[in-house]
Amino acid sequence: MQPRDVTLFALHLRHWKAILGGAILIVLGVLIGFALPFLTKDVIDALEQGTATKPYLLKVCGLYLLGATMAALCARGMRRLLIMLGYKISTRLRRLIFVQLSRLDRTFYLKEQTGDIMTRMTSDVRAITDMIGMGVLHTFRSVMTFVVGFTVMFSIDAQLATVVAVLLPLMTGVVFVIVFFVRKRYAASQEQFSLLSSFAQENFAGIRLVKGFGIEDRQNEAFGELNDEYMRRNLAQSRIECPSWPVVGALLTIGLVLIVYVGGLRVIAGEPGMTVGTIVQFMQYFFFVQWPMMALGWTMNLMVKGNISWKRIRHLLDAEPAIQDGNHAVERLGGDIEFRHVSLKFGELIALDDINLRIPEGKIVALTGPTGCGKTLLASLLVRQYDPSEGQVFIGVEDIRDVPVQALRDHVRIALQEPFLFSVSLGDNIGYGLPAELGSATDPDNPSADAMQRVLHAAHTASFQQEAEDFPDGLRTELGERGVTLSGGQRQRASIARALTGNPNVLVLDDTLSAIDTQTEATIIKRLVPVLRQRTALIVSHRISSLRFADFIVVMERGRITQIGSHEDLVSQEGYYRELDIMQRLAAQLEEHE
Ligand SMILES: Nc1ncnc2c1ncn2[C@@H]1O[C@H](COP(=O)(O)OP(=O)(O)OP(=O)(O)O)[C@@H](O)[C@H]1O
Ligand SMILES: [Mg+2]
Repeated sequence: MQPRDVTLFALHLRHWKAILGGAILIVLGVLIGFALPFLTKDVIDALEQGTATKPYLLKVCGLYLLGATMAALCARGMRRLLIMLGYKISTRLRRLIFVQLSRLDRTFYLKEQTGDIMTRMTSDVRAITDMIGMGVLHTFRSVMTFVVGFTVMFSIDAQLATVVAVLLPLMTGVVFVIVFFVRKRYAASQEQFSLLSSFAQENFAGIRLVKGFGIEDRQNEAFGELNDEYMRRNLAQSRIECPSWPVVGALLTIGLVLIVYVGGLRVIAGEPGMTVGTIVQFMQYFFFVQWPMMALGWTMNLMVKGNISWKRIRHLLDAEPAIQDGNHAVERLGGDIEFRHVSLKFGELIALDDINLRIPEGKIVALTGPTGCGKTLLASLLVRQYDPSEGQVFIGVEDIRDVPVQALRDHVRIALQEPFLFSVSLGDNIGYGLPAELGSATDPDNPSADAMQRVLHAAHTASFQQEAEDFPDGLRTELGERGVTLSGGQRQRASIARALTGNPNVLVLDDTLSAIDTQTEATIIKRLVPVLRQRTALIVSHRISSLRFADFIVVMERGRITQIGSHEDLVSQEGYYRELDIMQRLAAQLEEHE
């Protein structure tokens, strides 16, 4: 099932047996519930009239126990089914959402906030689980109770039934009003709680900044304010809740009192058909129906909440990736790259402006230019993180929009400017570039020797092998929150190695040598060049030392290409590159003098 085809109905339909089972148990439970008070009435009247005998009492008590046991079994069975149903549906829903989120691309994530997406995956799914589990079947139970209950009660005695019929909807109404108002305040306090936890989380994530700048007091103060507001909102919630529940209790007492009084007067008057047994029977009915009827007020709110959440989830499921898959399957894309009249716009901003560039197969091309000139954007067009607003990008003879995205991304690998590492082992982080069927290089149960060999090879080329092996567990070292943190330069080399593992035909290094000292840089370049010669490479950098060995260098300024040529060509021309060269020479000389 595709995410966009999912409906609440379809989610339920797969579990129709459980739902039918639950419904049958509910009907049975309700019928037993209304049958038992008949026994009560019978036994009380028999005792009063003196017709009861010991065997009769034993029979009634036996029947009562049997009925109550059956009712309990029905209730237990129903709860089990309900809870299972809720879990099954929410598990499936979470998975569908995750799959859909993986399908969506950059454009979507630029618009949406991570916190909000997380809320949809957690508390909105929870609200739907509640609606399904509690909401649907409880509502069904309330309706059944109402229908069966009033049919039975009116057939016994219209006057007492009317007393119940007047009071019960009142109780439902009160509960509904309480829940309605509490929910609004509950939402406000949940919102505040979100703020509170985001603040704490950000504070701990940025603890180095907090400590480094000595701003603990300011942060403590800010947290205190958020925390106080959270308390105020909770108090506001309880101000409604606390005085309201006693009203419900009072209505219940009034109901019982009225039944006794109205029924009692008629017993005193000796009205035929009205007995002490009937009064007690009605008192039992009143108890029996009051809970499902009050629950109706509560479940109606669950349904409303669930529906709102479902709309929020639908918003995710309906989103379409901006990058549509091409369907022209190709054996192997060529290595020639061409940008033909490529422009990229973000609203008013023209980030790339009429770019024309050809990179023949097997060439190493360097790309430089002032910060913000569009280098990363140009590189990201090659893996279709964005599609050009105008113009075309070709790899080999194919417009890259025509080939399947997966094939393109296997063919072109990019080492990102801001390398991201997952909280898994270092080896697996590097191995993300490998085909999945190869397995994990560092899986403790089933390590893949082939994967390990390729990871080591890539790490060697990126000049990272030695350091990686020096970590406490070598490539098995866990990274991230519960493990080792890599330095900036180490991250960059891990990211280069990751891009290399897949053995791509086109390799893009987006400023991934910037945090590396010049000596290590030289080693990496020496090892990389023979590797790059066998493919097509685009190297983005601000450093002459990383640029000069390229076959030719492209200079970009403000989204346009302004110069193209070899190092020698460009230093002999007026322009950005020559200035960069002079500045970096001066800096090097100054360093030498110091
Ligand atoms: N998704 C986006 N939406 C709007 N503007 C963007 C987006 N991505 C990039 N830009 C803008 O496009 C311009 C080029 O960005 P880009 O990241 O390509 O610069 P760069 O040349 O790689 O710079 P640096 O050398 O600092 O890495 C910048 O002005 C940036 O703010
Ligand atoms: Mg960049």
